[in-house]
Amino acid sequence: MFNRRLVAILAVSALVLVLPACGDDAATTTTGPTTATTGAGDEMIIGVSWNNYNEERWAKSDEPAIKAAIEEAGGTYISTDAGSDAVQQIADVEQLISQGADVIIILAQDGTAIRPAVQSALEQGIPVIAYDRLIEDPGALYITFDNVEVGRMQARAVFALVPEGNYVFIKGNSADANADFLRQGQQEILQAALDSGAVVNVGESYTDNWDPSVAQTNMEQFLTQNNNDVDAVVASNDGTAGGVVEALRAQGLAGIVPVSGQDGDAAALNRVALGTQTVSVWKDARELGRAAGEAAVALAQGTALGGLPGTVIFDSPGGNQMVSILLTPVPITKDNLQVVLDADWITVETLCQGVPAGTVDVCG
Ligand code: GAL
Repeated sequence: MFNRRLVAILAVSALVLVLPACGDDAATTTTGPTTATTGAGDEMIIGVSWNNYNEERWAKSDEPAIKAAIEEAGGTYISTDAGSDAVQQIADVEQLISQGADVIIILAQDGTAIRPAVQSALEQGIPVIAYDRLIEDPGALYITFDNVEVGRMQARAVFALVPEGNYVFIKGNSADANADFLRQGQQEILQAALDSGAVVNVGESYTDNWDPSVAQTNMEQFLTQNNNDVDAVVASNDGTAGGVVEALRAQGLAGIVPVSGQDGDAAALNRVALGTQTVSVWKDARELGRAAGEAAVALAQGTALGGLPGTVIFDSPGGNQMVSILLTPVPITKDNLQVVLDADWITVETLCQGVPAGTVDVCG
C-alpha cells in the first residue's frame, strides 16, 4: 500500500506545483494538502467484489469471515455486489480502487471478462486475490478449495450407490472455472465405468449462473428425453441439486435417484438427512474467508505473494503458475452428519427438520 500511497502523494504534489501557474491560488492551498493527507493516512482498506449473493454461503459464511479477519487486524472492509453482471463487476473493481482499497478480493462472475480489471489493479500496485474461482493472472493470489477433488467426491458418493446405469451431469456456470474443474474430477472417477459402458452419460448441461430454476428445467428435459430412465445425477452444487430434486420429485423419483451437491447449504444438508440428496461436499467457507482476509492483510502490509504462509503453486489450465492457497473439502453423507454439527455449521433443528424419528442417528 505504501508504494501506491507514495505515488498518490507525488501526484498530488505535482498538482500543487502545476496549479499556481493556472492562477488559482485558493485551490492550491485548500485541495492540495487535504488530498495528500487523505492519501498518506495509514488506514488499511480491503475491498471485496462479490459477483452476487445468490448462494447461501457468501453472506452467511464467506463474507463475515473475511470481514472479521480484516477488522481484527485493524483494517476496514468495503464491498460491492455485481448482481451477476460481469460488466458491472469490472466497474465495481474500479470503484473499489477509487475508494482507496489497498488489496482487492474478487469472487468472479466471469473469470475471463474480469481480467482487464485485475490487470488495472495490479498495474496500480494493488494486490488482487482470486477468491474461490480462478482468474487466469499469475499476478493474483488464488485462494480456493481443491475443486477437482470436490468433483471426485461428488461422483464417488453417487457411484458407490449406482455402479451402473444412466447418469445426468448438471454442471455449474460455464464462465466459472470451477464448473469444469468439478466436471473433470467427476469424469476421473467415472471414466472406467463410462468406457466399459456400465455408466452411460444420458444428459449433460451447464447451468447459467448456477441458477436452481435453470437446473430444474434442464433436469426436467433430461427426464423427458429419457422417459424418466435416469439412475443417478451428478449435480455440481447444492443450489442446482435443489432444482434437480424438485424435478425428480415431480416424477416420484426424489429419494430414489442419488443426487450430489456441494457447499453445505442448510437446505441441502437437510435433504441429506431426509434422503433426497446423497452428498453435499462441504467446504468450510468460514476457513476460506479467514484465509483470504488474513492474506489480504499481509499483502496490504507489503508481504510478497510467495512470502505468504501455506502457499503452493497451482498449474492452471491457461498455463499459469498461480501462487495458491488450497483448502480441503469434506464430503457429507447421511453417515457423517455429525461433522457439520460438531463444527457448528448448522443446528440440529435445521438439519433434522421433518426427518422421521429413527431414520438418521444424529436426528434421534
Ligand atoms: C462455485 C463455488 C461453489 C458454489 C458455486 C455457486 O464457484 O465454488 O461453492 O457456491 O460457485 O456460486
